[in-house]
Amino acid sequence: MSFTIYNGSPRNKKSNSAILAGEFLKGFAAASTETFELHHLASARHKNEQLEAFGKATVILFIFPLYTDSMPAIVKAFFEKLYESGYPGTKKVGYIVQSGFKESIHSVALAAYLEKFTRRLGYDYLGTVIKGGVEGIQIMPPRMTEKLFGDFYRLGLYFGTHTAFDPQLTAKMAKPYRLSKVSQWMMKLAPSFMINFYWNMNLRKHKAFNQRFDQPFKS
Ligand SMILES: Cc1cc2nc3c(=O)[nH]c(=O)nc-3n(C[C@H](O)[C@H](O)[C@H](O)COP(=O)(O)O)c2cc1C
Repeated sequence: MSFTIYNGSPRNKKSNSAILAGEFLKGFAAASTETFELHHLASARHKNEQLEAFGKATVILFIFPLYTDSMPAIVKAFFEKLYESGYPGTKKVGYIVQSGFKESIHSVALAAYLEKFTRRLGYDYLGTVIKGGVEGIQIMPPRMTEKLFGDFYRLGLYFGTHTAFDPQLTAKMAKPYRLSKVSQWMMKLAPSFMINFYWNMNLRKHKAFNQRFDQPFKS
């Protein structure tokens, strides 16, 4: 097989998607002697190479973050290019969608789109792995990311042997589908500084904290 994996995060090589792809590929390399290509869709200078790589590959995975309940624009733009190019041949295509919110329900509509899109292009659909609760992993201590990284490693390990996603692991990673009633109540009761800690930290980092209530489009 000729295997290509695309990172569809606009954060490019510094993204959570790149980190998780790295763990997946460590597992893949431990199980398979096949080589692979990794492309970052945010590297605009390499658009032609990225498209050519799709044309050549027989097994393709996309990993990207959920953006406003859908996909980042660079992923959509790439899909549109694939549609126009109409690469022929037998290809197996799968997806890994990771998100900030914990519940996989947020990504279910997108997964349905990805399946339809793949079949419309005439390729075999390998499925979509959904993993929530990923934002913040870059500031977490190793013990907090150990399980997540281990799951991605094992996902790659299985993929390297079967050219498929492990169904049991995929089902486990997609939990919770919804937050339990207790968790929903706890979210409501938690002080806002705790809930907003990560976002406020980023607002301060980008010198935008004082503008956080701005409404530039309000007439
Ligand atoms: C513009 C934007 C929109 C986002 N929309 C959602 C969303 O609708 N649902 C969600 O759960 N997370 C959302 N997130 C969070 C990302 O999915 C999450 O932080 C992800 O881990 C980022 O991955 P990356 O570093 O690979 O880009 C959004 C993040 C950004 C920057």
